[in-house]
Amino acid sequence: MAHGAQSDTRKKLLELFAEANGEFLSGQKISEQLGCSRAAVWKHIEELRKEGFELEAVRRLGYRIVSTPDKVTANEIQLGLKTEKLGHAIHFFDEVDSTQRIAARLAYEGAPEGTLVVAEEQKAGRGRLDRKWFSPKGTGIWMSLILRPPIPPQQAPQLTLVAAVAISQAIQEITGLVPDIKWPNDILLSGKKCVGILTELQADPDRVHSVIIGIGINVNQTVEQFPEDIRSIATSLAIEKGGRVKRAPLIQEILFRLERLYKQYLEHGFRPIKLLWEGYAVSIGKPVTARTLGGVIRGIARGITDDGLLILEDEQKNIHYIHSADIQF
Ligand code: BTN
Repeated sequence: MAHGAQSDTRKKLLELFAEANGEFLSGQKISEQLGCSRAAVWKHIEELRKEGFELEAVRRLGYRIVSTPDKVTANEIQLGLKTEKLGHAIHFFDEVDSTQRIAARLAYEGAPEGTLVVAEEQKAGRGRLDRKWFSPKGTGIWMSLILRPPIPPQQAPQLTLVAAVAISQAIQEITGLVPDIKWPNDILLSGKKCVGILTELQADPDRVHSVIIGIGINVNQTVEQFPEDIRSIATSLAIEKGGRVKRAPLIQEILFRLERLYKQYLEHGFRPIKLLWEGYAVSIGKPVTARTLGGVIRGIARGITDDGLLILEDEQKNIHYIHSADIQF
């Protein structure tokens, strides 16, 4: 079921609660700030409760938020969101085929930059190279973000690296775990994949209309919850941290970090991002095998160019610049 982008009043109410920081807000104050009746305030509070927010109501003091559920609805994500643009319009779904497909349609219909599509479950989650992306209900973050960068289409893959840095920073901030990035878009913990990023483009030859950044994060799966065929190569934040991780604060942190890096990227180009990316990179200096459309290249990963291409030195010391490949150590 789709909840769609939420009303301005609900958004304001959540902002008020975020500002109150767990303290009581009187019904009177809320109704004044929202410009609606006390009865309407009560209705909004009831709706939040239905979504799993725990709200305490005390006579004469008003309402306060006691706890937020581990949900990824628009309300949950927007409560305390610190961005200027990213995530201000959120389309939440309990179940979809793929958030990428929905985001692509919204982008085509003119959805503004920063629009986010999030789902609790994907029935046909897609990975790179036509692979499937395992997206079970309630345990991960499955989301697609619409960006509209004023850049030529050839530069769009750089945004995958921008996103990879933002997600790594956010994971580090929220969980204390330090992830590794495997070029171009895998994020690993203990050598196993916990995040995948899929960047797709709507563009003319000279102009990008939109870039859809699809982000899949294994958050709370246990080892047994992974299908056997990926158990040895996949992990979740909870497995690595040894405890559950709330998803909405992680999404907020990702959007916050991504907005900051995206601005920096648009103002100063890829170079500053490259330095941050290299700080997380694992493949650099190591022997890797790159499976490209043109064939298999074995060599040492020497770094990335200022455009975000992988520099691979083969056994004959020839340098290859890789745009797109599957990398194995
Ligand atoms: C990969 O590593 O192959 C990329 C995986 C990307 C998965 C995400 S989950 C949200 C979005 N919707 C999809 O169908 N795929 C991306």
